[in-house]
Amino acid sequence: MPSTTVDANPLNQGLVQQKSSQPCVIVIFGASGDLTKRKLVPSLFHLRKQGLLPHNLAVIGISRSQFSDEEFRDRVKPDDVDSEWERFREGLFYMPGSYSDPECYQQLQAKLTELQRERELPPNIIYYLAVSPEAFPVVVSQLGEHNMNRTEGWVRVIFEKPFGTDLESAEELNRAIHETFDESQVYRIDHYLGKESVQNILTLRFANGILEPLWNRRYIDHVQITASETLGVGTRAGYYDKSGALRDMIQNHLMQLLCLTASEAPTSFSADAVRNEKAKVLSAVRVYKPSEVDQNTVAGQYTSGYVEGEMVPGYRDADGVAEGSQTPTYAAVRLFIDNWRWEGVPFYLRSGKRLPRKLTEISVFFRSAPVDLFRLGSRDAVGPNVLTIRTAPEEGVTLRLASKIPGMTTNTRWVNMDFDYGEAFGTPSPTAYERLIHDCLLGDATLYSRADAIESAWKICQPILDRWMEKDREIPKYEAGTWGPRESDVMIESEGRFWRKV
Ligand code: BG6
Repeated sequence: MPSTTVDANPLNQGLVQQKSSQPCVIVIFGASGDLTKRKLVPSLFHLRKQGLLPHNLAVIGISRSQFSDEEFRDRVKPDDVDSEWERFREGLFYMPGSYSDPECYQQLQAKLTELQRERELPPNIIYYLAVSPEAFPVVVSQLGEHNMNRTEGWVRVIFEKPFGTDLESAEELNRAIHETFDESQVYRIDHYLGKESVQNILTLRFANGILEPLWNRRYIDHVQITASETLGVGTRAGYYDKSGALRDMIQNHLMQLLCLTASEAPTSFSADAVRNEKAKVLSAVRVYKPSEVDQNTVAGQYTSGYVEGEMVPGYRDADGVAEGSQTPTYAAVRLFIDNWRWEGVPFYLRSGKRLPRKLTEISVFFRSAPVDLFRLGSRDAVGPNVLTIRTAPEEGVTLRLASKIPGMTTNTRWVNMDFDYGEAFGTPSPTAYERLIHDCLLGDATLYSRADAIESAWKICQPILDRWMEKDREIPKYEAGTWGPRESDVMIESEGRFWRKV
């Protein structure tokens, strides 16, 4: 007889079992693109290998390119396949089509019906829009016109980023989507939310009783959120030169990190409860008047320099960048959340390309000890305790504490208490896309961005974008391989604070 083992550790009681999703067809618009090959198909394949996908699930790729099913399967084959791939690839299909052509949707309908019959699938469908954002409205309206937005099962639609290029376009897009789909059917991707360490922010804050009493303006001096990259724009200049660091990283990814760091405890872990709290944070972030933008923000653009020992050209020399481009490859903003918990606590957000290290982290700087008991010279020398939540390069959490140096004196030094995901759990975390696709298959939108939050984030960014656009002076420069323009240090140092040295 099989025996059941009960884990005696009370901390492991009640672990939630991973759920398998219901069978469905996933339709990927933009299937010839990089994302489908690099992220979507590998994620689906890994989910299948973990037993988290129904065996009969089917994928239909659509794009303008002409491929047969076989050619498509070869094209999207991940590097790390094993014998399971042979069975998985049988569920991949392809049809060429133009997104604005009604015939494409008639053919898709026929293909869906055929696959549902052959593979005994219920009428559950996910449309994954991995197309450029200009194509979102046409795909959405065509799906609506062909009555493909509802079935007797469920229909969900995933939108890749970027979601809008400013407040007006985001509102317009939400309006267009809501003409065809209910918000409950809509899943807007922000891949940062799928990262394990990002999900851990709420666990860290609300499953540990010791942090929450300190998590407010009485004990926290300021917060720094950094996402630095060593890479330049690579082959994406066509998109990036029209976008820039504020749109590309801060409006979405860093704002999400801000929300999770600053929100109140949700009443449950349901999608709406979590997303309501995040939306409240964004609606309390101070929206700057044009006259306040300069003192609270810094834009920068990299020139040539050395990154990781290699000489790299400046941004303006990258292929596809407009001559004399003023697009920021670096952005730093100081934000304030005008509510009871955070009044007066600055949140500094910075992100840039061609910086010295790849790093994503949130550092919470606590107020210093009130008295310099150890005669370090000044209260400031005691320095703050800093809690750092790292998302990259290694996921983990570090707490900086002052400690006595062994010996006959009371000399003190900073030491780190470290938690590293890899070491603690020994198993690799699912990738962000695996987690997000799996959640969509389960109908759980907690880790997706909601319409109101996206619009609030644009509201905060809009005056900054407007002001940066109207400036007639040259954008500040920084040498590739340095931590951004000097103006960014000046912004934070003018308040007696410093960017964390990493
Ligand atoms: C993307 C941006 O959303 O995020 C890229 O468009 C950026 O420009 C990337 O490089 C960073 O993601 P990650 O997961 O590497 O921090």
